[in-house]
Amino acid sequence: MPAIRCARCGAEGARYHVSFARVSFCDKCYIRYYERKLRSTVLKYGMLKVMRRPLVALSGGKDSTSALVGLKSVFPDLEVTALYIDLGIPGYSEESERVVRKVTEELGVELVVHRLRDEGRTVPELAVGRFKRKPCAICGTVKRYVMNRVALERGHDSVVTGHNLDDTVEVLFELYRRGQLEEAVRLRPVLLGDGVKLANRVKPLFEMTDEEDLYYVDAKGIEVVESWCPLVRGAKTVSRKVLIHEIEAKIPGFRHTFLKAHVKRYLPVLEKVLGQPVLRECAVCGYPTTSEVCSYCRAMRRVVLQRGGEVAGGKATGG
Ligand code: AMP
Ligand code: FES
Ligand code: ZN
Repeated sequence: MPAIRCARCGAEGARYHVSFARVSFCDKCYIRYYERKLRSTVLKYGMLKVMRRPLVALSGGKDSTSALVGLKSVFPDLEVTALYIDLGIPGYSEESERVVRKVTEELGVELVVHRLRDEGRTVPELAVGRFKRKPCAICGTVKRYVMNRVALERGHDSVVTGHNLDDTVEVLFELYRRGQLEEAVRLRPVLLGDGVKLANRVKPLFEMTDEEDLYYVDAKGIEVVESWCPLVRGAKTVSRKVLIHEIEAKIPGFRHTFLKAHVKRYLPVLEKVLGQPVLRECAVCGYPTTSEVCSYCRAMRRVVLQRGGEVAGGKATGG
């Protein structure tokens, strides 16, 4: 088989084949391709204006690691800090923390570690009642809450996550299928906060595929966590991603068209029709929520009830 040539410099041994674009690159040109694309996404969506002091939520996986490394490489003057949330998942959390410590040390980026255990509740402990069979749902709630709270407490204006095109398409597919438009309207590259209790949320990898992120950390020679969280066994998100790849095989470009239609066609209409959600302060913690008590505090309360009425700082309110 003849050696594949890099589409940019013509060198032989182009290891990275970007499937959707049908081009191959050598290591050096791939890094250039990825970083230029990242730069153009950040500029296109005005991300620099809303992330002057970002807190990058770093799980140690390929996506958030690509976001951190990519932002540091493309915008060296950006004052970035990384946040790792220790979810208390035996084995997996320790391994993730090791990887996250390594990459932040290599980059010279400050790392903040927030341990759920210090608040008395790890993800396995929170996955009780109706969440026993879907720990990822409660895990996601807790992560979003902690990211926002830690960012604001430390004076960051924004939280950066590694959500990419494949993640967004997978979730959108489900939301449109079910007609959950109030949630679909929140799936965007930049979600503005209020600067007080809600940090801006920025997704610099909004247009990157899983494959592109994986190639980037590989080409940069950066270690990432490769194992799956032991709690996600059989998760719907995984089977939906497989399904979307099957559709993509039959309809090439499906994911990019779908995402573009969402951003350019649906979002402007949804924004007009739905307006901003009405937020109020959680009766327990004071952070914004659409209900009386936020989902984080409700989760905390469930654990307390499960433990037979242990007092939650004397604050477990009704509602
Ligand atoms: P997930 O909800 O696991 O799909 O992760 C979505 C994003 O949340 C990732 O791209 C990260 O930016 C962030 N994230 C996930 N897990 C953690 C963690 N343990 N600590 C900090 N950030 C995380
Ligand atoms: Fe959240 Fe596994 S990382 S359930
Ligand atoms: Zn609350």
